[in-house]
Amino acid sequence: MSFSITTPIYYVNGEPHHGHAYTTIAADVLARYHRQRGEDVFFLTGTDEHGTKIAQAAEARGLTPQQHVDQMAPRYRELARAVGASNDFFIRTTDPEHEAFVQGFVEKLKAAGDIEKRTYGGLYCTACEGFWYERDLAPDGTCPDHGIAPTWVEEENYYFLLSRYQDRLSEFFRAHQGWVKPRSRYNEALSFIEQGLDDISISRSSVTWGVPVPWDEEQVIYVWVDALINYLSALTYARPGEDLTARFWPASLHVMAKDILKFHAVIWPAMLMSAGYEIPEGELIHGYLLVGGEKMSKTRGNVLDPFAVIDEVGAEPLRFYLMREVTLGQDGDVSMEGLRIRYNNDLANELGNLLSRSVSMIDKYREGTIPAAPAGEVLQDVAAEGEAMVRASSARYDADEVTAALESIWEYVRRLNRLVEEEAPWKLAKDEAQAGRLDAVLHGLAAGLRLVALAVYPVVPATAIEILRRLGQAHGDADLLLEKAVWGGLTSATVGVAPPLFPRLEAGA
Ligand code: MSP
Repeated sequence: MSFSITTPIYYVNGEPHHGHAYTTIAADVLARYHRQRGEDVFFLTGTDEHGTKIAQAAEARGLTPQQHVDQMAPRYRELARAVGASNDFFIRTTDPEHEAFVQGFVEKLKAAGDIEKRTYGGLYCTACEGFWYERDLAPDGTCPDHGIAPTWVEEENYYFLLSRYQDRLSEFFRAHQGWVKPRSRYNEALSFIEQGLDDISISRSSVTWGVPVPWDEEQVIYVWVDALINYLSALTYARPGEDLTARFWPASLHVMAKDILKFHAVIWPAMLMSAGYEIPEGELIHGYLLVGGEKMSKTRGNVLDPFAVIDEVGAEPLRFYLMREVTLGQDGDVSMEGLRIRYNNDLANELGNLLSRSVSMIDKYREGTIPAAPAGEVLQDVAAEGEAMVRASSARYDADEVTAALESIWEYVRRLNRLVEEEAPWKLAKDEAQAGRLDAVLHGLAAGLRLVALAVYPVVPATAIEILRRLGQAHGDADLLLEKAVWGGLTSATVGVAPPLFPRLEAGA
């Protein structure tokens, strides 16, 4: 079974911020989870490097667009690495292979009779790289996403006859009720379609920074058409000498925020229908990270720098915080203070302490070797609840509900902490008659923590591996498979005592 997942390709007009980190992390969590299920996964991310917005950013820096994108794209590649993304490829729309593929793709639209030359005038927002209908603008006439006034743009362009696809798109939506998630976004896209679709301009004559229209070198292909096609083009050259299209298309899931829903849920499927490709199986639309109630964005200038946060606290706490705090699909405020609170409470106190207590008790009372659970002393409830936790968190990852998966896992982390309090191993250790009970408890803590590590792996992979390592458990790719997440899977081993997994963060740190 294959699973292919994508993030949007990010504009390189400015530095990456938490908003980009959020989508990349969410997609990475799902990619890692599907690998744990033993699926053949392809995870794609990258950069969108053409168009007016990029050309303007380059000009403002006194650089050519090419110089600018060559400096900026590596920052996005670094972001993926810094947040621990396990992407299988990083696409740049200035890759010659992509550019050639885009030209071939628009030739297909033309061959299908879906391209026409026309004069168009419309209100264009450079920050969106998109036209707005007047009815959709804010009351003061500005772009509702960026708060800036769009400009009137009029030129002779090539048009994609999107209006022809209105009925096929409605039918597709009705036949695939869950294909855009959550439901509110599905409804939004469908109602946009049913309000009536206008044909869209897919080339620009006033812009030079882009992929030339193959039959008219005076025009470049509209940056959004160029960008959307990355999801397909990448499969043709990600592995030299190999075409992955049959293996990974249709994509399983495009992940993005709600700002670019219309492009992905309306224009992209119509383009695919026209060019004769299958439609992706799903799109997951998440909300916005907010700062003090406002959308975090480069255009608004209120961004948090993920590199600085990662330097300060590490990637794993950032991944955990964003996934725990901002439920996929909803908007959520983020702040350093919020991160610190989650870190100290969930990671340092609840998970980190549980691990250090368990390991140090095994060290102290059993000379560092996890005891076998004596027959008749197996902790039935703790075992059953551990396996139930794995099932519950898996069901939630399957439904793309990462926050809910973490809630199930932490319920169990708290359960294990209660086990320590209730059983008080330090008392059991004083009574030789209780040796079997102490073995059962210590074994139970190690076995329970191993299940926690496997369940939490998609969100905090390095932490999960470190937990397994400290418990002396195998932690290669094959050991991380979900099928290994059964209670009996613990190998008796020597634990390693080590400094706290998550030293507490002090306020203002
Ligand atoms: N280049 C286009 C996408 C083309 S995809 C074929 C683009 N780029 S972008 O740099 O503006 O990135 C937009 C995406 O970045 C959002 O859809 C979302 O995935 C992420 N985010 C940017 N700001 C965000 C927040 N404040 N909150 C959550 N996600 C954010 O659009």
